[in-house]
This record gives sequence, structure tokens and C-alpha cells, in this order.
Amino acid sequence: MKYSSFSNLYTNKKQNINNIYNTSKNYLMTYSRIAFYEILKHNLCSNNTVYLPNFICKDILSSIKELKLKYIYYEVDKNLNPILDFDVNCDLLLIVNYFGFPQNKDLFKYFINSKKCITVEDNSHGFLSRDKYNNLLGTRYDCGFISLYKSVLIGNGSICIINNNKIKINNLVEKNTNNIYFSLKMFCIRYLILNDKIGLYIFLFKRMLRKIIFKSKYTISSLNDENELPKNIFINKNYSLNNFSLDLDLQIKKRRKLYMFIMEIIKDEFVEPIFNELEPHTVPFCFPFYTDKKNILKIELILKKYNLFVIPWPSLPSDIKKIPSFYNKVFYIPFKI
Ligand SMILES: Cc1ncc(COP(=O)(O)O)c(C=O)c1O
Repeated sequence: MKYSSFSNLYTNKKQNINNIYNTSKNYLMTYSRIAFYEILKHNLCSNNTVYLPNFICKDILSSIKELKLKYIYYEVDKNLNPILDFDVNCDLLLIVNYFGFPQNKDLFKYFINSKKCITVEDNSHGFLSRDKYNNLLGTRYDCGFISLYKSVLIGNGSICIINNNKIKINNLVEKNTNNIYFSLKMFCIRYLILNDKIGLYIFLFKRMLRKIIFKSKYTISSLNDENELPKNIFINKNYSLNNFSLDLDLQIKKRRKLYMFIMEIIKDEFVEPIFNELEPHTVPFCFPFYTDKKNILKIELILKKYNLFVIPWPSLPSDIKKIPSFYNKVFYIPFKI
């Protein structure tokens, strides 16, 4: 089976992305960092504390640091389940559905009930994914966000979901919009990127450029990313979820099929999948696994035939005191299709 057989998204059964997340109030923002910043800004005070996992991409800290809020980390175990400290008092808890796999709500229930904190579901990775009760990830707590651009080849875009009427945010919409530029961008998204393999080639081309310029095929996160929010915080007023139509059922099937396919082709290569089970409603963002760094070259050689590759994750925050050894053994194979 060739990877290319997974990458054609052009079908006649397209559905609007807005139709799926419209049971909650949703806003399209540029990035999840901006959505998180907005949630923090309008719902916390300056002396409030955020409790978040230390197994996380450092970029998300920028939302907290811009507002000079206090924060405390909790660790996760090897199954990426939380190790919560009940002695911690927090005003907001961040729960991360790693790689599109749902966190078990039972593991947070007592903590949330006892602290009465605002709970935010970081579902940056979990576009279209659901838990075993068929609940859409991102809609299960007070609010959530989904980095749409990480799963679908569009420039930026994160869905900020508000499930609790008490949570306030501002919709950050650009006042002056350059319509010609915007129309061109939408044309590219609709007719080129969303429709077929061109998106994949653009992605591989960007990766090649990065390798030539920065000598690394991976996106390099800098200390600035941890401290500063992205510059483009306002979204074009004509940009809306109604603009994006995809065959969502096909997306789900392809992601699940690709997960099982990768499991099969790399199972003998010192790869330990982080999640051994693919529950019926999970829509994986990628194939995440543990391995030693020395095995990566061999794994990439196998994946190359299918146009697939490996990325280390995450770029950890700089201020973690003690890093559990398995944190540095996490890699994933992206399905940006
Ligand atoms: C778990 C997680 N949450 C949030 C973010 C931030 O997402 P965005 O790039 O949409 O701001 C990232 C990635 O950087 C991430 O990996």
C-alpha cells in the first residue's frame, strides 16, 4: 500500500467544518496560543495560577507569560496520564489530549471538583477526534481549542470552543482587511491545498527549504516562542469555518487507516507505540511512539518509501526542573493529509 493512496482529499461528499463543532459556541482564531491567551485574559486575575502539564510544547507558555500569570506544572506518566498534586491550588487547569487521543475524564474529575477551577481542553492535535462516549474532544470542559491548521493544510486557524456561558472571550477579528490578498489566499486553500496532493508537496518543499536554510528539517522552536505570542493575532473577518469543506468521514477513515498501516510497517523496529489501542472514535493526529534516538535513521529509511517521516516532540519548556527520561524518547509520524 502506498502513502499516496491516503492523500487524495478530493471527493464529492464534502461537509462544512462548522457543522461539526456548532453544538458549542465557536470562534476561529489564528492559533491555539491566541485562543488560550484570550481565555486567560478575560477569565483570570493577575494573581491567579494555571496548572498545566510539563510534557507540552513550550510555545503554549507564551499565552501565560504574556499575561504574567503564575503557573505550576504537573507531570504525566508513561501512558501520558496526569500525576496531579492535590496540594496545588489553581484557578485554571489545562488538560492536553495528546496526539488526538482523549484524556480519561475520570483521572481529572476529583481534582476539578475539589478545586472548582476553570478547565480548558487543549485539543490542538485532536481535530475530529472523540472519546469512547462519542463526545467531541474540545467540547468536554469549560472551553477548548483545536489547531485546525495542524491537521488540514491551511496557513493558520484554530477553533476556540466555549462550552460554559460564564467564560468570556473577545473575538479577535481584523478590522481592515485586504480583500484581494484574502481572496487569493482562500482560492489557494479551497482549490489547491484542500483538494489534492499539492498540499503534501508544499509541506515537503517547506521542509526541504528549512533543511537548506536552518540545517534542520524540523521546525526549530526558539526561546522567544516561549515568551512571545505570534504576531498575527487578528483573523481576517471573512475567514470562517463555513469556508472550509472537507469530506470529514474520509478524513477520519484515512487517519485511522494510516495509523494501523504505520503500526504494521514499523512494529519490528524498536518502536513502542504510546497508545496500543485505537479506540473506535479516536482520530489520531499522527503516529506517536517511544524509541531511542539512535533508531530514528533506520525508521526513517523504512518510512521514506511512503513519503512519511519522523518528528521529535515536544520542544519542552526551558524551566522544567526534572525531566523524566521517557519525555526525550517521544517521536511522531505526522499525517498532514
Ligand atoms: C499540545 C499543544 N498545545 C498547543 C500548541 C500551540 O498551538 P498553536 O500553534 O495553534 O498555537 C501546541 C503546539 O505548538 C501543542 O503541541
